[in-house]
Amino acid sequence: MCGIIGFAGRQDQAAPILLDGLERMEYRGYDSAGIAVRSETRGLQVRKTKGRLRALSDLTRGGADLEGVLGIGHTRWATHGEPNDVNAHPHVSENGSIALVHNGIIENYLELKEHLMKLGVNFASDTDSEVVAQLLEYHYNECHNMLEAVGRVLRRIEGSYAFGIVCSDYPNALIAARKDSPLILGKGENGNFIASDVTAIIKYARDVIYMEDGEIAVVTPNSIDVFDDELIPVDKKHNIVDWDVSAAEKGGYAHFMFKEILEQPEAIRKTISPRIRDGRIVLDDITLTTEYARKISRIYMVACGSAYHAGIVGKYVWEQLLRRPVEVVLASEFRYSEPLVDGNTLVITISQSGETLDTMAALREAKRLGGRTLAICNVVGSSIAREADDVLYTWAGPEIAVATSKGYSTQLAALDLVGLYLADLLGTVEQSEYDAVLAELQILPEKMERYLKDFQDTQYFASRYFNHNSVFYIGRNLDYAMGLEGSLKLKEISYIHSEAYASGELKHGTISLIEPGTLVVALGTYGPLFDKAMSNVVEVKARGAEVLAVTTEGFREKMAKTADAVVAVPDTHPILQPSLGIVPLQLFAYYVALQRGCDIDKPRNLAKSVTVE
Ligand code: G6P
Repeated sequence: MCGIIGFAGRQDQAAPILLDGLERMEYRGYDSAGIAVRSETRGLQVRKTKGRLRALSDLTRGGADLEGVLGIGHTRWATHGEPNDVNAHPHVSENGSIALVHNGIIENYLELKEHLMKLGVNFASDTDSEVVAQLLEYHYNECHNMLEAVGRVLRRIEGSYAFGIVCSDYPNALIAARKDSPLILGKGENGNFIASDVTAIIKYARDVIYMEDGEIAVVTPNSIDVFDDELIPVDKKHNIVDWDVSAAEKGGYAHFMFKEILEQPEAIRKTISPRIRDGRIVLDDITLTTEYARKISRIYMVACGSAYHAGIVGKYVWEQLLRRPVEVVLASEFRYSEPLVDGNTLVITISQSGETLDTMAALREAKRLGGRTLAICNVVGSSIAREADDVLYTWAGPEIAVATSKGYSTQLAALDLVGLYLADLLGTVEQSEYDAVLAELQILPEKMERYLKDFQDTQYFASRYFNHNSVFYIGRNLDYAMGLEGSLKLKEISYIHSEAYASGELKHGTISLIEPGTLVVALGTYGPLFDKAMSNVVEVKARGAEVLAVTTEGFREKMAKTADAVVAVPDTHPILQPSLGIVPLQLFAYYVALQRGCDIDKPRNLAKSVTVE
């Protein structure tokens, strides 16, 4: 969740490069930021400040105030200690010789801190991370070898971490270490990098090494050496990242979120097209056989946030197609719930970033219990992708806005693909149905483009309703699943309280909250239950609700007879309808947030990649 970068350069000044990389990772956390740069003449220079990266950039005059070709940087999402200047990273050891940036949580930090304090060490901050900087100085003083000192520290700390370390005695080297927090190493033309995320360094380095848990790396301008936890050298595979640099840039749009909403048709196309050949789904990347599929007795979909909502859509779709029970569980619950996983259980973990700690832990738990795991993931080489038995990548490209859009919709497309594929293996879907769903899946991007050509009505309704303080999203079956995500989008970026309800459940309690003027977003895109959805619209209208309906072009007229405002998306196969219906909900949230002057790409208190529990 925090973002880490480090640069060991030959000639280029490190500070501007570090600031640029941090800017690209600001979605990982943005309550404070800092950099440490080392030079022969000025030694270790550290600047850090509360607030957005802009504040750090102003403080250092875009990095011009710091001299040196080697340094580390950090953008923080606070866990231990309030977000202020002192708690910002880098943290420096007491004698000023070691600076460290950290992502993760050191669980035994209090015990270590007490121990160090007894030895006379003074602490400046309230963070768990500073304890590691101080412990490093302590061990370095013992052995006078940084690699050895890091090894000793790692043996004493518990928890999760990605570290970037500079030491004034090592003018050319950065040290990095990871456990349960992402960290990559990048080989660039003008120097080498460490980073939490490829987006931070893609402008400078495309040759990337993924660090594994327990590994330590020594990065100099001309070399990258990786060691295991016994400090024995490890041979690492290099990977070439082919992401387009412009994909991680705003390119003239006001917000990444808006750009990413518009990129959805293309992202879905990239996710689907290569996997459909001659009217059949071909999943070269996964190894699920008919024999295995027949053995599956239980399926879990495990994820967090929007990916969890994608899982709920997936459950409805898969249960229809596969006639097998599918349970969707929040990753943070799954891991501690003694899940009923055995050799016949397929566990699907869904994660855009591939680094969400809870999802990662759930995946490990599923494997430990003997289940078979399949990850649906957007980031190649991410931790979840590497540990799952199989991985099906969504090809959404880099997603920068904290609130996901194309990440979510490509997850839906991937789930549709795998669901249909398994149904075919199992013979639980008629050939005609298979063909019908597949044909619609292929033209989904075009249909989405059709809606995206003209969404002025959605923009208009946002300006009409942005002043509401509480909003209900109601729908049945797949509309309910879609409503969960639509409601989350609104909450996340506009800070309006909203809830999603299964329409039929409304009258069992929540309807008491409907009063004249309450905004209800009624979802009626799921054809088989459209009439039922209409009855619920009538119910809330009767209590005075203002109803904004999202439906399909085919149902528009019927819906308009009752709802106050109607947005319609193209019709498609019912099980694919959420992929289209979600788009106006994303745009509605976007325009409401815009009207309210919210910081759309970086909503308060949130971070995109949550690598702590
Ligand atoms: C965070 C983000 C959400 C995201 C969730 C899961 O909470 O703010 O937008 O849906 O993590 O992320 P993942 O990368 O695992 O899909």
